[in-house]
Amino acid sequence: MTAPLPDSTSPAAAPSAGTATVEIDLGDRRYDILIGPGLFDAASSWAGLPRAAVALIVTNDTIAPLYLERLKSQLAPLYRRVEAVVLPDGEQHKSWASLDQVIDHLLAGAADRKTVLFALGGGVIGDLTGFAAAIYMRGVPFVQVPTTLLAQVDSSVGGKTAINHPRGKNMVGAFYQPVRVIADLDTLDTLPDRELSAGLAEIIKYGPIADATFLDWIEANLDALLARDKSALAYAVKRSCEIKAWVVGQDEREAGLRAILNFGHTFGHAIETGLGYGEWLHGEGVACGMVLASELSARLGLMPATFVDRMTRLIERARLPVKAPPMPIDRWLDLMRVDKKNEGGEIRFVVIEGLGRAGMRGAPDAMVTEVIAAHTEPAPH
Ligand code: NAD
Ligand code: GLY
Repeated sequence: MTAPLPDSTSPAAAPSAGTATVEIDLGDRRYDILIGPGLFDAASSWAGLPRAAVALIVTNDTIAPLYLERLKSQLAPLYRRVEAVVLPDGEQHKSWASLDQVIDHLLAGAADRKTVLFALGGGVIGDLTGFAAAIYMRGVPFVQVPTTLLAQVDSSVGGKTAINHPRGKNMVGAFYQPVRVIADLDTLDTLPDRELSAGLAEIIKYGPIADATFLDWIEANLDALLARDKSALAYAVKRSCEIKAWVVGQDEREAGLRAILNFGHTFGHAIETGLGYGEWLHGEGVACGMVLASELSARLGLMPATFVDRMTRLIERARLPVKAPPMPIDRWLDLMRVDKKNEGGEIRFVVIEGLGRAGMRGAPDAMVTEVIAAHTEPAPH
């Protein structure tokens, strides 16, 4: 049975500038998500991490010039050697080659099994570093230091780690939890607008799947979020993490409930993989995928057509795509058949069954085809 979602501190009552802590309750693998401004430069953020001789920071060539030296200076008093691997930026580099580069660096430096990995970046770096930590010497501790909105509200939390395969997103990976997540809201100051919107997609997701009141709040505060208002961002990140913690605490390995976090992702992953990694951002695929999954929920008779309009309007206001790119339907179906949620060859979709409540359903190919056709950009002539 699903436990009720705990209420959040009301946004009005929440201190705007303080640090919030959300706990992921997984018994002896429990950990905290620290959320707030100024966390990067506060020694307390880094205190009490596992002790080791070597810390390895994994990041990319966009984030390194912005934050690598600051992280190194925080870690220098704590570890004898603080090293870094700087990967090329981009979803296409969430790959075997990048993973190999990290593992090779560890082995070349004779890093032992106490070595602590730090994922400094967005979801690409977080997923890849977590996977490297899971497999290096059968597992070393790692810390998530998410620097994108998407990573702060979703990918750094919950222990899904992976790399992509050309045939499918996140197809090679492991469940492996970090020992801490340090989400400094100030890092969002340097995030490009398009990436901020991509993060909003995953925030929007939490409303219809788990918390109708949060959906109302997002609608009312979207302009403040787009303007990067720190107290609005603080509440959005905190509430998103609370919802994710509630889901992951009950179903870490996605035996059932956790699949609801993939609302919009079946369609979204097909767009991402179909166009080639990096063409559409992950959050953009999820955004458009949520429009399609809302339409499917309506066509299955679970939600009224007004819900599709409501989601479309919100996603559009968040400056995210609501029309899918033209792609042959056979390609769509082939791509969606390579999905971890599928069972016995049937494509399974996360659908909304009532505001704040999601479930899993199959749907006939003909209906899926109509759903896609109803929300596809016309092909250029
Ligand atoms: P990303 O990691 O590619 O980062 C987006 C861009 O922003 C990159 O160019 C990056 O270099 C740049 N960037 C990062 N931080 C910055 C900063 N503070 N200032 C300026 N630029 C910055 O993309 P993302 O949206 O963070 O993550 C998407 C990935 O996350 C996908 O691979 C997706 O599959 C994965 N994901 C995983 C989970 C999970 O549960 N593990 C959940 C959702 C998404
Ligand atoms: N983002 C999906 C999950 O963490 O399960």
